[in-house]
Amino acid sequence: SEKLVYNKKKAPHIFEWRAKLCHVRLNYRSCEVDLWMGDGPIPRDELLRRIVGKNGLLCLVTEKINEEVLNAAGGTLQVISSFSVGLDHLDIDSIKKRNIRIGHTPGVLTDAVAELTITLLLAASRRIFEAHNEILNGGWSRSCLSPLWMCGKELRNSVVGIAGMGRIGFGVLERLQSFKIAKALYTARSEKVHANAIGAEKVSFDELLEKSDFVICCLSLSPEVSGLFDSSAFKKMKNSAIFVNVSRGGLVVQEDLIQALKTGEIHAAGLDVMTPEPLGSDHELLKLDNCTVIPHIGSATYTTRLAMGMLAAENLLAGLQGSKMPAEYA
Ligand code: DGY
Repeated sequence: SEKLVYNKKKAPHIFEWRAKLCHVRLNYRSCEVDLWMGDGPIPRDELLRRIVGKNGLLCLVTEKINEEVLNAAGGTLQVISSFSVGLDHLDIDSIKKRNIRIGHTPGVLTDAVAELTITLLLAASRRIFEAHNEILNGGWSRSCLSPLWMCGKELRNSVVGIAGMGRIGFGVLERLQSFKIAKALYTARSEKVHANAIGAEKVSFDELLEKSDFVICCLSLSPEVSGLFDSSAFKKMKNSAIFVNVSRGGLVVQEDLIQALKTGEIHAAGLDVMTPEPLGSDHELLKLDNCTVIPHIGSATYTTRLAMGMLAAENLLAGLQGSKMPAEYA
């Protein structure tokens, strides 16, 4: 009999999701499930206590799976299945050293994140939250006759740079086609034929920064690119540029971004990810009119979260059975 622990995230569709998970579970002969039912992420001490002797773990990005957790689990742990595509919350080397298999959820969230990226870019460039606040604070009645009131930047005729042309970068590029942009630039380790085929051009990181009106970060976080967007990167960007990050906060030196936004080195930013998460409600980022901040909701649609849950469960069960996982991180 296998033992596993997985984490529950509150969602309005939780019943449908649970029913499907139960279905997967019943198909697996004898599987004992220890489910965290509390509100929010499982507290660290609970995780450390409940992981002991388990064979599998289904976790969210909120759980840092490092030596501490692996040591607490002991030698029984065979598979870790993350309810995410990004795996920067896992200490991959330590996990691999112990021959523990890793599953994640690529593909099923691409469209939701790409849609959210466009939403965030437009919200930042057209100052959507600021405009909403203008209604609440009386600004609309005071300023509505001024022609430049609440003006923003438009995508039409602009150069858009996408750092990282993986699935999500390409999903964003595809969606940009309908906005009549002048040019799309991207960075990647190699030429991406599918991106080139729709008119995008691979350039160096510096060229992307220098030429883009919008810079969108779609890179996966790894030690090589941690803090890539620092003061020198923001200095290379146009003063009129809008920076969007939908990947991980760790790709940005946040203090440098705040400086760049305050001094007008760049025009505005839209962030779905930041450091730390969750961000305190009194954080400096939230005090900047030219910074649109949303709470890491890239994949948060009912359909996508259900698909992620199913894939994560299937990865876990396949890992426990020693069979091919639908999405194993090799
Ligand atoms: C992922 O899957 O990595 C997302 O960022 C979490 O929603």
